[in-house]
Parts: sequence; structure tokens; C-alpha cells
Amino acid sequence: NENEFDDQQKVVVLSQLPKTKGFLGLSSLSLYQGFWCPSKIVPNVISFQTHFQAHDQDIILASKPKSGTTWLKALVFSIVNRARYTPSNTPLLISNPHQLVPFLEFTLFADHAIHKNSAAVKVPDLSGIPSPRLFSTHIPYPSLPESVKNSKCRIVYICRNPLDVIVSSWHFGTQDRTRSQWTNMEEYVDKFWKGEAAFGPFWDHVLSYWRESLEKPEKVLFLRYEDMKEDTVAQVKRIAEFVGFRFSDEEESGGVVRQISEMCSLKSLKDLEVNKTGKFMPNFENKSYFRKGGVGDWVNHLSASLAKRIISKVNEEKLKGSGLTF
Ligand code: A3P
Repeated sequence: NENEFDDQQKVVVLSQLPKTKGFLGLSSLSLYQGFWCPSKIVPNVISFQTHFQAHDQDIILASKPKSGTTWLKALVFSIVNRARYTPSNTPLLISNPHQLVPFLEFTLFADHAIHKNSAAVKVPDLSGIPSPRLFSTHIPYPSLPESVKNSKCRIVYICRNPLDVIVSSWHFGTQDRTRSQWTNMEEYVDKFWKGEAAFGPFWDHVLSYWRESLEKPEKVLFLRYEDMKEDTVAQVKRIAEFVGFRFSDEEESGGVVRQISEMCSLKSLKDLEVNKTGKFMPNFENKSYFRKGGVGDWVNHLSASLAKRIISKVNEEKLKGSGLTF
């Protein structure tokens, strides 16, 4: 396939990209198009960028890791498929949300073909997926494929307080101590501080989607994890309206929104057998996606002075004048 070889040419050049220590400590991060991409994922990102054809009805969920991606996937899947499934027969009972809403760069554009000792990515056939197709990505807005930007497909972005993102990432990255190279949280925070976090810098990631949501509110819905925790029902209604699946008055009075919110709560999902034992990728156990799910857990891990320093750097230096603050 000619396409694969084109991609491969680019991959060869990519071995020259600047590198830093990785998210899980195992794989490095490479600075690609201004963001720190897990090095092994760079070929997938290139293939996604080159070959993905968005449809107008597609819904793409975007986030920086550990911002509430799994939760958002469960909610959007439930909203869009509520005519087919109820909480008693939803596929969420037997599948992790990441299986129902696959990552474009980690899962779909991840099948490597070996050619001349290096890897090229096979282009997947996504044409048979029923509409609306639900996908997800961690890459920042500027690096999305042109067809995503130029079609009418919708993007739902979720962000979270950076202190909680740091703490959640730390737990995710160190839970398997046999695989993790991270032993020192200060070093981890320092990397975040320099912007060297997976798909970071954090501030560039959130700003890219924030700006787009202001410029094209019909294209990008910008959500905050904290708002979702505070009033899940209100945010679920907002998401449903945005993706074109508004709840009817009957549904609202019949408790459908509340049922979906409860079904997708951390406790419900975490207690399911599939999320206690399964894996959705070889190195990623389903249970690692469900921890405390709170707001402000950083107080248990970061000193008040360090937290203040991080937040003021983010707000006063990086997000200044954008209208977005944490
Ligand atoms: P904590 O580590 O702070 O508990 P992501 O899905 O982007 O990888 O983010 C994972 C974070 O979201 C984890 O945060 C996890 O506990 C939390 N989370 C997962 N499912 C959730 C849900 N249904 N409701 C609220 N938070 C959830």
C-alpha cells in the first residue's frame, strides 16, 4: 500500500525529534508539532492525520489524559444510543468505555505493518461504523486532521484542574511499579511545569480547544470536569443538545437524564466486573481508569505553596487574557 510507505518516510524523519521521559516511564515522549507525543504513538498520529476522513455526523471526544475521558465516553455513548439501550442492557455493562468509543491514535490507527525493519501503520476501514461514529483523541486541536476541522463533525472537549491532572497522571503512571520509571513525584511535577507531559504542554492543549470553542461554538463544546461533578445532569443535557440528541420533556420528566448520569458515575462503572478485571489494550488495565474521581485530591499530594506556584504559572503566565482560568 503506497500510503503506508508515505507514512513510513515521515516516521524515519521522526526518529530525529527531541525526546523526554515518558508518561508511563516506559516509552519516551517526542516533541511532534509542538506537543509531547508518546514516541510509539507518533506513527499512529501521522497515519490518523493523513488518512482519517471525518463525516459530518461524527462526534469526536477530545481531552488531555486524566481529565475525565473515560467518564465522557460513557456519557456520550449513553446519550447517543439511548433509543437502543437502557441502563439494564447497555453495552457499558460488559465493555469498558474505551472499547465503545475508541481512541483514533491509540486504537484505530495502531495496527502496524512491518516493512524494511520499521513500522508503518495500516489504514483502518472505518466506513462500516454506523452513524454517528464516536471516536476519541488526545491530540491538541491544531494537529487534528484537516477533515476534522473542515467537516461539520462535532468535538466535545473535557478539561480538568491541572493539579488534579498531575495527581491523577502520577497515580496512573506509577500504579504498576514494575513498569514505571517514576519514583519521584517532584520530578514528575517538574516535567509538567516545563510542559513535558503527555500531549502537553497542558496550557497549549486546553487553550487550543478553548479558543476554538469561543470562535466556533457549534463545532467545539468545552467542558470542565469540575462542572460535571457539581451538576452532572445539567452538563449531560448540555452535551446532548450539542451533539444533536436533545432530551425531550418526557425523557427529562421520566428520569432518563438522571439514569444515564447514575449509570455513568464512577461508582457504577468501577463496580462492574469488566472494569475490575479486563484490559482494553495490552498494557492498560480497565481498573486503572477508575480511581477516586474527585475534585481537589491534589491537597493530599502537593504542598500548598507548590500548588499555588503551578496555578499562578498556568493562570497568570500561560492563560493570561484568554478568559480561561483554573
Ligand atoms: P482520579 O485519578 O483523580 O481518580 P481519564 O479518563 O481521562 O483517563 O481520567 C481518569 C480520571 O477520571 C481518574 O481521576 C478517574 O478516577 C476519573 N474517572 C473515571 N471515571 C469517572 C467517572 N465515571 N466519573 C468521575 N470521574 C471518573
